[in-house]
Amino acid sequence: MIPFNKPPFTGNEEKYILESIKSSKISGDGDFTKKCHKWFEEKLDCKKVLLTTSCTHALEMAAILLDIQEGDEVIMPSYTFVSTANAFVLRGAKIVFVDIRPDTMNIDETKIEQAITDKTRVIVPVHYAGVGCEMDTIMDIAKRYNILVVEDAAQGMMSSYKGKSLGTIGHLGAFSFHETKNYTSAGEGGLLIINDEQFLNRAEIIREKGTNRSQFFRGMVDKYSWVDIGSSYLMNDVSAAYLWGNLEQANIINQYRLNIWNSYYENLKKLEEQGVLQLPTIPNNCTHNAHMFYIKVKNLDTRTELLEYLKKNEINAVFHYVPLHSAPAGLKFGKLDGIDEFTTTESNRLLRLPMYYGLDKEKIKIICGVINEYFKIY
Ligand SMILES: Cc1ncc(COP(=O)(O)O)c(C=O)c1O
Repeated sequence: MIPFNKPPFTGNEEKYILESIKSSKISGDGDFTKKCHKWFEEKLDCKKVLLTTSCTHALEMAAILLDIQEGDEVIMPSYTFVSTANAFVLRGAKIVFVDIRPDTMNIDETKIEQAITDKTRVIVPVHYAGVGCEMDTIMDIAKRYNILVVEDAAQGMMSSYKGKSLGTIGHLGAFSFHETKNYTSAGEGGLLIINDEQFLNRAEIIREKGTNRSQFFRGMVDKYSWVDIGSSYLMNDVSAAYLWGNLEQANIINQYRLNIWNSYYENLKKLEEQGVLQLPTIPNNCTHNAHMFYIKVKNLDTRTELLEYLKKNEINAVFHYVPLHSAPAGLKFGKLDGIDEFTTTESNRLLRLPMYYGLDKEKIKIICGVINEYFKIY
């Protein structure tokens, strides 16, 4: 069976994990965390990053930092992972879902403004498949209405919009290092990016159980104490050691994935020309990280049949999010603004093909061969 995903392993991860264990500094903010922090701050060109236990937790931290209160409204696409919504629902917010664009599967920036009310506090653009949302328009709306922006860049490490790294454009950004992502930490992992200086101090405090422990370690206060609400959002250093192994090879991993992506594109182009499927669109102002290669087929029935056909041929392809606005919790905690023109129909058509560091060209040919064969038969 060709798996859908494999976490990236480049060789040094094992050595670094052992180093971390031997250092006896295996909890949060050890040497590997410091190395990763420095790498991200330089590579992404941003003010401050904090490794977290997951992207879910980075988003939860963002909701606490922005002081989301009962009844506040948060705008996001319905086509996203549950954590994008849950993080804000946990603080009492109501989620206002907005339709997506069919070309990128990202929030339709032209439908955001009509969803804004006097309760709107935050917009959460989700950079689906590591392809940037139309951030200039979103930031302009946010500025005009005095709304904050949290980028859900869970899938977007090493991608950019108009030359700026995803996650560094909004007031806050969140990334994931779950094993399905381009770069992985051992266990779960995430990153919060703080782009707006007003949130710098409090972010550290929230991550450290509501204490000013980080300031204490920097010698800024002579003892540390409980100063705010918070939780334990620190990534352990053994996880960071694995991540460091990946980051050292980040450019190689990125290029490898882009080669796979391009190879899929080349091999499936003819089918798109024949009109039987659609390939992903990358807007001109975005560079992407080949997080995902998806195709869109005619409808849900074709997708179900093709997934089955691929499985029979030992290929593990998968679908993706079921829209949140129609899920039981989505109905309870949110509402769709406007109409569902594309969210449900486009998500029903989408199918993700195997994509991981190490997937070789031969396997891509096999996968594309099976897809071609399917469309010849049906
Ligand atoms: C868009 C999006 N946001 C948030 C998350 C949550 O990430 P994590 O698993 O690191 O908590 C995911 C996970 O896949 C995601 O796809």
